[in-house]
Amino acid sequence: MFAFHTIVQDDFDAVNRLIIDELHSDVGLVENIGHYIVEAGGKRLRPLLVLLTARSLHYGGSDHVSLASIIEFIHTATLLHDDVVDVSSLRRGRPTANAKWGNAPSVLVGDFLYSRAFQMMVAIGNMDVMAILSDTTNVISEGEVQQLVNARNPEVTEDNYLTVIHKKTAALFEAACETAAVLAGADAPLRQTARQYGYHLGLAFQLVDDALDYEGDSEALGKNVGDDLAEGKPTLPLIHAMRHAGQADSDLIKLALENGDIAKLQQIVGIVQACGGLDYTHKLAADHAQKAKDLVLAFPESEYRTSLMELADFSVKRSF
Ligand code: IPE
Ligand code: IPE
Ligand code: MG
Ligand code: MG
Ligand code: MG
Repeated sequence: MFAFHTIVQDDFDAVNRLIIDELHSDVGLVENIGHYIVEAGGKRLRPLLVLLTARSLHYGGSDHVSLASIIEFIHTATLLHDDVVDVSSLRRGRPTANAKWGNAPSVLVGDFLYSRAFQMMVAIGNMDVMAILSDTTNVISEGEVQQLVNARNPEVTEDNYLTVIHKKTAALFEAACETAAVLAGADAPLRQTARQYGYHLGLAFQLVDDALDYEGDSEALGKNVGDDLAEGKPTLPLIHAMRHAGQADSDLIKLALENGDIAKLQQIVGIVQACGGLDYTHKLAADHAQKAKDLVLAFPESEYRTSLMELADFSVKRSF
C-alpha cells in the first residue's frame, strides 16, 4: 500500500468492492478466472489515476468509482490477452490464467471483461467518456498488433518502438486521466493537460517495464524476466544496445532477437548494461516522469495533486 492509495482510501475500497461485484456471471468459469486474476492484486495504478485526477479537479459525484473499475477491467482484459500472446507463465506472482486454464478460456474471459467494462460505461451514460474509451481500446489493440508485426525484427526503430508503447500502454493512462477530468467537468485545456500527464506517465511506466524485463527480479515483479527476449521483442534496451555495442556483440543480440534465444539472456544483459541500454531507457523514463510532474502543476494545489506527482516518481523508481 502506497501513500497515494491511502489518500483516496474510501474511494479505493469502493473500487475494489465494485470490481468484485461486477465479476458476476452465470458461467462458473468466467467467475473463476475473473476472481483468480483480480484477487491476485496488482498495483491498481490506473484506477488510482482516475480517483486522484477526479479528486484533484474537485469532482463531487460518485461515478469516478465506477470509471476507475472500468479502467481496471480494461487493463485486466489486456493482461489476460497479453499473457496468451506473450506465452507468459507468471503474473502477479501466480501462474498466468493461460498456464492454468489454457489459451482459449483466457481469451474469452478477457473478452468478457472488456464487454463488462462497456456495460458499466453505458450505465455512467457520458458520451465523451464512451468516445474516449472506445477509441482507447481500439488503439491498444492496434499497438499490440504492431508489436506482433515487429517481433523478431532487429531493424525496428526507436520511433516505431515509442509508437507501440504509446498505443499499447500509455493510451490507457491518458484515457484514465482524461475521462476523470471529463467527469469533473474540466475545461478543454485542463482536460488536455490531464491527458498529457497520463501520456508521459504511461510512457515512463512502460519504458521501466521494458528495462525490468532485463534487470528485474522475478520474485519482486511477480512475472518472469526475459519474456521479451523469448518472444523476440525489440524493446528500447535492445534497440539501443544494437546501435551502440561493438559489431560482434550487436550481431549476437540480433541473432538472439531473431531466434527468441532466451539461453543468451545473461550474456545479453551484460552487453546491454555495458553499452548503456538500460541507463538510456531509465533516463528517457525519468524525463517523461518529470514532464508528467511539470504538467500536473496546472491542477489546483492539493494533497491529491501531490500524490499524482509521487505516482510519477514511483513509476520510474519501482522494482515491481
Ligand atoms: C502490466 O501493468 C502491463 C504493462 C502495461 C506493463 P501493471 O504493471 O500495472 O500490472 P499490475 O496491474 O500491477 O499487475
Ligand atoms: C503490456 O506490455 C501491454 C498490455 C498489457 C497491453 P507487456 O507485455 O510488456 O506487459 P507485461 O510485462 O507482460 O506485464
Ligand atoms: Mg506481456
Ligand atoms: Mg505484451
Ligand atoms: Mg513487460
